[in-house]
Amino acid sequence: MHIDILTLFPQMFQGMFSLGIFKRAIDQKLVSVGVHNIRDYTHDKHHTADDYPYGGGAGMVLKPEPIFEAVESIEREADVPVILLSPQGRLFSQQVAQELSRHSHLILICGHYEGVDERVREHLATDEISIGDYVLSGGELAAMVVIDAVFRLVPGVLGSEASPLDDSHVAGLLEYPQYTRPATYRGWSVPEVLLSGNHAQIDNWRREQAIQRTYKHRPELLDKAELSSEEKRLVERLRQS
Ligand code: ADE
Repeated sequence: MHIDILTLFPQMFQGMFSLGIFKRAIDQKLVSVGVHNIRDYTHDKHHTADDYPYGGGAGMVLKPEPIFEAVESIEREADVPVILLSPQGRLFSQQVAQELSRHSHLILICGHYEGVDERVREHLATDEISIGDYVLSGGELAAMVVIDAVFRLVPGVLGSEASPLDDSHVAGLLEYPQYTRPATYRGWSVPEVLLSGNHAQIDNWRREQAIQRTYKHRPELLDKAELSSEEKRLVERLRQS
């Protein structure tokens, strides 16, 4: 999986790719990234990437030419998604991450200032993604969120043992509580069942905890989750209590 990133702030991505699992994944050639400075595709002396909005108003708008030229400089197949990160996009989710992880190449455009010239959206981007209903000062953090969620789905990136299949949201539920040693810390003990070695009981307990936690924090997720009839009865009891 290769991801190209177009940004005014390439340095922001250095940390993400020089540490931890993504550094290892890059070293092992499981994934690769190209970080492109939009300013490198300007042609004037001042490397102008933005300009005043037609019609007036506050803020600056990213110019179309450097963004088009940067994307066109990237060698790519016809069906490679060109994704604009912006608060106007469709909402990012684990499902969207899974969908994107099926591609071998993605191009991400980080917007900035007040916005991006509409022609980028209309004639260059094939998709537009928002990571949530709030406004960031640029698309870089949003791009990092998308890259993190997508790269960790690439086989091998999480290492051989860990599996993204247990993650919150994969099964439509939030994840169950996790504990590690010590078994008792400041008088707070790990639930007995986890020490029992009885894996059927542990699986049941975890599933029940996941349902309870989802009910508490994100009850709307339960409407879409796949639940057994016994689990549905548990949800009913939670709703009534
Ligand atoms: N750029 C600014 N805010 C954003 C958001 N919420 N999602 C994606 N890109 C953004």
